[in-house]
Amino acid sequence: MTAAQIGLPRRLAIGGGALADAGRLVRDLGYSRPVVVTDSFLSQQGTVARLVTALEEAGCEVAVFDGTVPDPTTDSLEPGLAAVRDHGADTVIGLGGGSPLDTAKALAVLAVGGGTMRDYKAPTVTVGPALPVIAIPTTAGSGSEATQFSIITDSASDEKMLCPGPAFLPVAAIVDYELTLSMPARLTADTGIDALTHAIEAYVSRKANPFADGFALTAISTISAHIRAVYADGADRPAREAMMLAATQAGVAFSNSSVALVHGMSRPIGAHFHVAHGLSNAMLLPAVMRFSVGAAPSRYADCARAYGLTGSSDEALAQALVGAIEELCADLAVPTPRAYGIDRARWDELSPLMAEQALASGSPGNNPRVPDAGEIVALYDEVYG
Ligand SMILES: NC(=O)c1ccc[n+]([C@@H]2O[C@H](COP(=O)([O-])OP(=O)(O)OC[C@H]3O[C@@H](n4cnc5c(N)ncnc54)[C@H](O)[C@@H]3O)[C@@H](O)[C@H]2O)c1
Ligand SMILES: [Fe+2]
Repeated sequence: MTAAQIGLPRRLAIGGGALADAGRLVRDLGYSRPVVVTDSFLSQQGTVARLVTALEEAGCEVAVFDGTVPDPTTDSLEPGLAAVRDHGADTVIGLGGGSPLDTAKALAVLAVGGGTMRDYKAPTVTVGPALPVIAIPTTAGSGSEATQFSIITDSASDEKMLCPGPAFLPVAAIVDYELTLSMPARLTADTGIDALTHAIEAYVSRKANPFADGFALTAISTISAHIRAVYADGADRPAREAMMLAATQAGVAFSNSSVALVHGMSRPIGAHFHVAHGLSNAMLLPAVMRFSVGAAPSRYADCARAYGLTGSSDEALAQALVGAIEELCADLAVPTPRAYGIDRARWDELSPLMAEQALASGSPGNNPRVPDAGEIVALYDEVYG
């Protein structure tokens, strides 16, 4: 048996108001020329200005690139790379949801390693070199602040590429739940389900290990206890804080284990139909769990206990979890692909390609029950609605 290879950021500043520590953190790590990589929403909202002030007060020379796009594409990286190079940046600070964080990581690798993102796509694992990344999440979802992945869509083929390796792991993160208070309900739900999916998939994965397991189960309990409250009332600070911590813990879990079939099937939906990442996970989660539980009932039963369910046997608990997740998706108003407005003919036409892309990502191979292409197509058919 090979040893689990664990990777973590060297520093995590966690808590309400931690954004103000950014300058000291950057200087402590020995950097002084950060480029902030973010999106136009965070720029307009004033969060970027607060970060820049904190950095400048610590004596940093700061540049800002706020041209990242949701579900970043290879084309969108070009102006960002120019910004990193023009500034002579010694560190890249990602500020935002998973999209700006993944963009920051990609730029940090491209700036030093060169080439294009296709060169870094799984199964290639990139150790380095890369500029150091500091990640500041503003959604409680992707966990990208603690993961050794960047997910970039190839503009030419619309393939959502998983790019793994320690080069993509931030050296530090600032996890400040106050940055998530502005999330609307839909984004709160979608990103929260993404984090829940990370935790469940990390725990049932064939790459699960005792280190990652603890983070996964803790995240499942926390999300189960708070996700409905935070969806109902985005100003619920204790719930926001709990969800933020759980999202980072779920990131630690899957970064050191893996995601599985839900993520494998979700990325092609996002790439071809432009469905938000967490929402496409949510559309798939109950059906994929129903497909998978029989292959690892005791692992799903542990997830069910962490979720707060009780049952007479592992099999009963595993089934109860599928039902509970179905209920959660209904309560969070998760639509089927049909209700979302996706055209049936286009869905059916693309399903074989999406199945092929899902398998190529490697994620389905980590699932307790490993599907073939035909079974993935059947699952796409089942979830359409
Ligand atoms: N690298 C990883 O390990 C990893 C893990 C999971 C997901 N991802 C990727 O992350 C991306 C999704 O990230 P995401 O779901 O965090 O969203 P996102 O970064 O794509 O942002 C979605 C929208 O939310 C807005 N937004 C961000 N923070 C906000 C706030 N505090 N208040 C109001 N609006 C806010 C953004 O401006 C944007 O319009 C996908 O591309 C997915 O593939 C990466
Ligand atoms: Fe995800």
